[in-house]
Amino acid sequence: MIIISTIHEMQAYVQVARKSGASIGLVPTMGYLHTGHGALMERAKNDNQRVIVSIFVNPLQFGPNEDLDRYPRDLPGDERFCSERGVDVVFAPTVTEMYGADGALTRIHVATLGEHLCGAASPGHFDGVATVVAKLFHIIQPERAYFGQKDFQQLSIVRRMVGDLSIPVDIVAVDTVREADGLAKSSRNAYLTPEQRKLAPRLREALLRLQAAWSRGERDVPAMLAEERAQLEAVPEFRVDYLTCVDSDRLQPVNTPAPGQSVVFALAVFLGKTRLIDNLIVQ
Ligand code: PAJ
Repeated sequence: MIIISTIHEMQAYVQVARKSGASIGLVPTMGYLHTGHGALMERAKNDNQRVIVSIFVNPLQFGPNEDLDRYPRDLPGDERFCSERGVDVVFAPTVTEMYGADGALTRIHVATLGEHLCGAASPGHFDGVATVVAKLFHIIQPERAYFGQKDFQQLSIVRRMVGDLSIPVDIVAVDTVREADGLAKSSRNAYLTPEQRKLAPRLREALLRLQAAWSRGERDVPAMLAEERAQLEAVPEFRVDYLTCVDSDRLQPVNTPAPGQSVVFALAVFLGKTRLIDNLIVQ
């Protein structure tokens, strides 16, 4: 496995790989890797002759009061993690390498899809995501890129961007990997106190109850959401940012689902300062 930290070197590697006819799979990450990222790598390894993992804590997607400085980092551990999974290249540029000494002025804005849910609390977050992902796609020109279903809004935005801009990359979605108790794996779980960690699986449980109600044929979505919100808010350690039901294409709120409509129940909840997200698609 090789480690590349400059754009120029990354482009040179890609040129050689392409000339040899090798297909490239890209797994974009912000590092502090766990088995959720690992599932993306395994899938990429399966589908492509070369796997490139980018590790870059992207300042453009953090708001002024967010956790950029305290975002967990462990590059040596991440390199071992990638090497054990047969990754060919880790691309780990610095911020200056990616955006230049005076920063980038260009942003990619995917209208509507990024403005609510996780975008409401952090305006500009998804512009930052779309911009860095587009930049990685331009540098690496992968055949396929891998994204987790856990961040389903991010996945929808990337898919939309690729379609709207005719970027020739297949976007592959990978199911959420969970801890044994159902908590979605996340680099941010490292922030939880033992007490918060014990409470965290309740987020998934709320989504599972919504799914069960849906399977029983309940369709009074506002009432279903209100009941689960009340249960979550009864836990003093939780502060609900959103708990919602949206359609899986446009991510618009659904109150009265059409027959056969596929929807996503999604939530974001603060435990102390740590914001956790999860979602569940129901057909
Ligand atoms: P990061 O949070 O490091 O996640 C990198 C990728 O791993 C994302 O596609 C995310 O959805 C996926 N992932 C995280 N936890 C997962 C889990 N438990 N199961 C399955 N997949 C999981 O998302 C980002 O970084 C950034 O926004 C990025 C796309 C790299 C742009 O900076």
